[in-house]
Amino acid sequence: MIRILPIVLAIVAVAAACNAGSARADGETINYDEAKVPDYVLPDPLVMQDARSVTSAAMWRKLRRPEILELFCTQVYGRRPPTPEGLRFDVTEDTPAALAGKATRKRIRVDFSGRNETWPGVKLTLIVPGGAKTPVPAFVGMHLFDSKSDEPLPGRPLEVEIGEKLPGSRVLDVILERGYAIGTLDANDFCPDDKERFREGALAHFFPGRTGPPGVEEPGAISVWAWGLSRALDYLETDPAIDAKRVAVIGHSRMGKTALWAGAQDERFALVISNNSGCGGAALSRRVFGETVARINGVFPHWFCGNFSKYNGREGKLPVDQHELVALIAPRPVYIASAQEDLWADPRGEFLSAVGAERVYHLLGKPGLETTEMPPAGRSIGNSIGYHLRVGKHALTDYDWLRYLDFADRHFAKPAQAGPRR
Ligand code: GCU
Repeated sequence: MIRILPIVLAIVAVAAACNAGSARADGETINYDEAKVPDYVLPDPLVMQDARSVTSAAMWRKLRRPEILELFCTQVYGRRPPTPEGLRFDVTEDTPAALAGKATRKRIRVDFSGRNETWPGVKLTLIVPGGAKTPVPAFVGMHLFDSKSDEPLPGRPLEVEIGEKLPGSRVLDVILERGYAIGTLDANDFCPDDKERFREGALAHFFPGRTGPPGVEEPGAISVWAWGLSRALDYLETDPAIDAKRVAVIGHSRMGKTALWAGAQDERFALVISNNSGCGGAALSRRVFGETVARINGVFPHWFCGNFSKYNGREGKLPVDQHELVALIAPRPVYIASAQEDLWADPRGEFLSAVGAERVYHLLGKPGLETTEMPPAGRSIGNSIGYHLRVGKHALTDYDWLRYLDFADRHFAKPAQAGPRR
């Protein structure tokens, strides 16, 4: 077990900006006071449930990693739907000179033989820089831009002065100019984000006839969305324009939780980016700071498996915490980002998750963050684990995108080793 208290104390000065006291939301007390974070002990990612220490990369790989993955499946997110056999990719649009000739735009529907009428399909919109001579790396995620639009605008205008001029007026131009393709999925296409309707998509096909909130180990929406990202990657592996060994999965907020879970399970994702993912994402549940397990299960009962609500107000009983979700991504690069005013997502808890995953990266021979000190806003730190705290609110901004592009440039300089299909 790791005593986390010293780390918390060491960075308490930086916490000052976040100490906004307690506030009430929907009649429940939400803690925003660093002084009220309970003393807690994190599960050690390098100690097996039977108390054996994990002493080698092989032991991590063969024993401890599957154990942690199984715990996240059964206690937090639920098992994902099966991987369908006989996948088929219907390219429903292929526009070679989209975005004023700068890119190719494709729309693809993922289908499979044997489907029945309840199958809604996973739809991917893919924008690839024009004129690339070799397969390009890609970012893929949920709701990265408006997939219905012919001239999509991913990202938002800059929210903060960052003293940095973008080479183009839109972040999409920059992403394309820097040689990356970008693909987006709409979660509602295959798993509506609605506690009454979430079963109407892929779940109606895979688990017909079921009703009500997710059962104890049944997949919640986050698991279904993560599964959809893997199906998008199945397509990317077949597209000669894309280097499928250099695909980064990225998401903001609930889709940041989804990106982490997708990357943890599907090792073909060569890099993982979590933007302001908060509770059930990068933030440590045991800190009980900002959004809590009880609150997220209460408001979004369709996101996680039924078992997760056993830990409402009992975070200390969770057999895992979110630093171990980050550890599941090791040795692949992972970037976690917070926003200073996004206290609901617990920026410090997100940072401490990155800290808590680091020993697994070290065991696997990779440098991690290499500090336990939370950086000031506006500084990107780390190596295989990247982190920044941005000035401003809960959002995926151009500032964030620029950091992710730099991180991907660093790690994609040489093609990464991606894992098998899941
Ligand atoms: C709510 C929810 C968060 C989530 C966010 C979002 O605020 O409580 O957990 O991250 O929505 O997805 O925008």
